[in-house]
Amino acid sequence: MNSLWIETTKNQLKLEPLEKDEETEVCVIGGGLFGLTIAYYLTRAGKKVTVIEKGEIGEKVSGNTTGKITSQHGLFYNYLISDYGEEYAKKYLQANEEAIRNIKGIIEREQIECDFCEKNSYVYTTKEDEVIELEKEIEAIKRIGGKAKLVTNIDLPFKIKSAIEFEKQAQFHPRKYMIGLAKSILTQNKIYNFTTAIDVKKEENQFIIYTDRGIIKSDYVVMATHYPILNVPGFYFSKMYQVTSYIIGIETNSKLPEGMYISAKEPIYSFRTAKYQEKEILLIGGSEHRTGEAISDNSKYENLEKMAKKLYPDCKVLFKWNTRDCISLDKIPYIGEFSNLMKNMYVGTGFKKWGMTFSNIAGKIITDKIIGKENIYENTFDSTRLNPIKNRWEVKNMVKESIESIAINKFKVQSHSIDEIENDNGAIIKIEGENVGIYKDKNGRIYAVKPICTHLKCLLTWNNIDKTWDCPCHGSRFDYMGRNIYEPAIKNLELYQDMNNGKNR
Ligand code: FES
Repeated sequence: MNSLWIETTKNQLKLEPLEKDEETEVCVIGGGLFGLTIAYYLTRAGKKVTVIEKGEIGEKVSGNTTGKITSQHGLFYNYLISDYGEEYAKKYLQANEEAIRNIKGIIEREQIECDFCEKNSYVYTTKEDEVIELEKEIEAIKRIGGKAKLVTNIDLPFKIKSAIEFEKQAQFHPRKYMIGLAKSILTQNKIYNFTTAIDVKKEENQFIIYTDRGIIKSDYVVMATHYPILNVPGFYFSKMYQVTSYIIGIETNSKLPEGMYISAKEPIYSFRTAKYQEKEILLIGGSEHRTGEAISDNSKYENLEKMAKKLYPDCKVLFKWNTRDCISLDKIPYIGEFSNLMKNMYVGTGFKKWGMTFSNIAGKIITDKIIGKENIYENTFDSTRLNPIKNRWEVKNMVKESIESIAINKFKVQSHSIDEIENDNGAIIKIEGENVGIYKDKNGRIYAVKPICTHLKCLLTWNNIDKTWDCPCHGSRFDYMGRNIYEPAIKNLELYQDMNNGKNR
């Protein structure tokens, strides 16, 4: 099912693929929120820019977010102060606060109708033993000059023990905003849909971007693909993983809460309202897990539906969707040079779950780098920093989780035979000692692939919610026919032999 954002903006901006080789100043790979934001800023700075998007702009990760624009990133400032110091935490907060104002400014300047509205945001807890952590967090926020207050009453329909309130945060319709940015970019520059970057090489002072539709030559490259598609240099696969979370949109006759909310600790739930057909509906998010975990049933959505029914017994579910977030090992985004070994290529990734503000921050920092302007946040999110891989606890955790997922997969492989797989379901089975990924559609037709990720060869898992093959290592995803949907992999899966008695697949 499409997200509310994609469903309500279908066919609003039709863009063609690249048709012939091109030369440009800056090639932006990826037409999500970050790619379009940087292309917007560069266009305003008078640069010649070409954006290429594998699918349609704003339909991947950015079209599936919750669309909250906030500097309140869960319980985070106390962690920042203890690990990085007050000065650092202050800059992090300032950069995100500025991003809220920048986005508001762009919406006003370009007159983008995207349901933007200012809201208070809250991190809440329902547990007495977590109150102390909220108290520490508010103390930390105050030490760095942030404006926040502790409250015990919010308008969610259940009792809480405590919450931290940030005023003047915001929410919007992210895809309407992205279409507005794209229209502005298109007045001077180019955006191509259905154009997949396959490789990037540097020849003398120019980059050659190889795509499935032709070649683009450019002076600068911005890697805006959510997860970078180049392994070397940069090595982002060794310092970042992905998580998946789920959202449902419900309608109810009950009064809806006014603000934006997120629980302080696991299980994480988030709430915000949105407009749909002139009505307000409520979006409830949660059920997070590491991308690549095998999913055999609908329990991720069912958990959210159960909660919705408990809070709003008359509610009806209108939308269900899920999204992915890249998490860096030190929980700070990577913004800046792609690698010290590759000048003039830039990256913005690892935005955790706060891509609305970080897309703007990254767009500004990298634009300033390209046009040679100083930016006070340039070093705050430095993408070439070594701290993440020095953080041994996180590295150990990432390796442990990967090994566990792979071990669980292996166990699952042994527990299936082809006859045990029900229609409209999938699994990995062994055929003559080889792993084969089988999906049987509703009519029993078999789609067989080699379930080995084309990124760095991890064994994939079957995701029966989305009917996809997902990778537990870095979160690449492939549809049931083996076609690549999400990075870092870019190649499709190898097909296994036809198992439908010779009929064409
Ligand atoms: Fe890296 Fe699959 S995403 S190995």
